[in-house]
Amino acid sequence: MTKIFIIHENSDWLPPFAEALHAEGAEWEEWPLIEGALNLDAPPPAGIFYSRMSASSHTRGHTASKDYTRSVLSWLESHGRTVVNGRRVVEMEMSKIDQHTALRAAGFEVPATIAVFGRHDLKDQARSMKLPFITKHNQGGKGLGVRRFDDFKSFDEYVDGPDYEHPVDEITLLQEYLHPAGGFITRVEIIGGEFLYALTADTSAGFQLCPADECADPGTSLELCPVSALPTESLFHWREGFEDPIINRYLDFCQSWGIGIAGFEFIETEDGRLVTYDINTNTNYNPVVEKEAGRSGPVLVARYLAALARELKTDRVLVPTG
Ligand SMILES: Nc1ncnc2c1ncn2[C@@H]1O[C@H](COP(=O)(O)OP(=O)(O)OP(=O)(O)O)[C@@H](O)[C@H]1O
Ligand SMILES: [Mg+2]
Repeated sequence: MTKIFIIHENSDWLPPFAEALHAEGAEWEEWPLIEGALNLDAPPPAGIFYSRMSASSHTRGHTASKDYTRSVLSWLESHGRTVVNGRRVVEMEMSKIDQHTALRAAGFEVPATIAVFGRHDLKDQARSMKLPFITKHNQGGKGLGVRRFDDFKSFDEYVDGPDYEHPVDEITLLQEYLHPAGGFITRVEIIGGEFLYALTADTSAGFQLCPADECADPGTSLELCPVSALPTESLFHWREGFEDPIINRYLDFCQSWGIGIAGFEFIETEDGRLVTYDINTNTNYNPVVEKEAGRSGPVLVARYLAALARELKTDRVLVPTG
């Protein structure tokens, strides 16, 4: 079997994958992209590469990781290496605008959104939003910059005040607030062209801000929180028996954009719409949900990577087809 390389910048998220790869009998190695060098004239090692680069890497002080990853993935793909969640996909991870435009073009319903570049235009642009609306950072992950505003005055105070959160790429999205029917969002997990399961996250606690003391960053969303399996946590559940045509549409979307592994989030609104608002391409699987579902994301990821490593066929290179 060819070696599997896991590209990432946060070791805390690796243990479940390490365990599953070990059980699969795979030869693998982690490749942290935090700081380092790349000899562009040398060939990459032989192997299968899986990028788990996170949009929130800068919040862990890893400011070079995004462009380091872009560079490494370009280099790998230029040599024809098989990359799961490769060069095109990292753009989607890093930009909610990129996700939104691709989803809209594929015919998915998406929330009304205005992207604002820099800080100066925010207050003016907000006036064209219906109330309530939310802000979020274009380069997000763990709910960065997600706040709800019910009136323009409090938004103006936020923009002018000390609590204003600078998006790392200076892009803030102003987005329609979707009223979730039943008070939950749904996430559909896809691995290697297969539907794993759907899970729900209760929105009654706001935007799932993590209550765990262990979280260094108070803005950490439970969905990406490695300690979210704490027994006190019950915001996440398996969405048992979830069957909907949206699953096949997400699978088709993954196929056409060369996405190997992703979680798609949607809200079923009080006015009867199903609106997709987020694509996560470096999912951390929640153990509570996995226990309920009787299925394991890390195990399926390991099997998928190991199958690619056994075959190592160039026609399995995951590149966009559309
Ligand atoms: N348009 C919206 N209307 C209502 N709630 C929203 C909307 N967009 C996001 N949310 C809520 O905020 C949470 C975080 O938003 P989002 O997933 O877009 O950010 P993120 O930075 O990608 O977070 P994560 O990495 O945890 O998925 C969502 O799970 C949902 O509960
Ligand atoms: Mg999300």
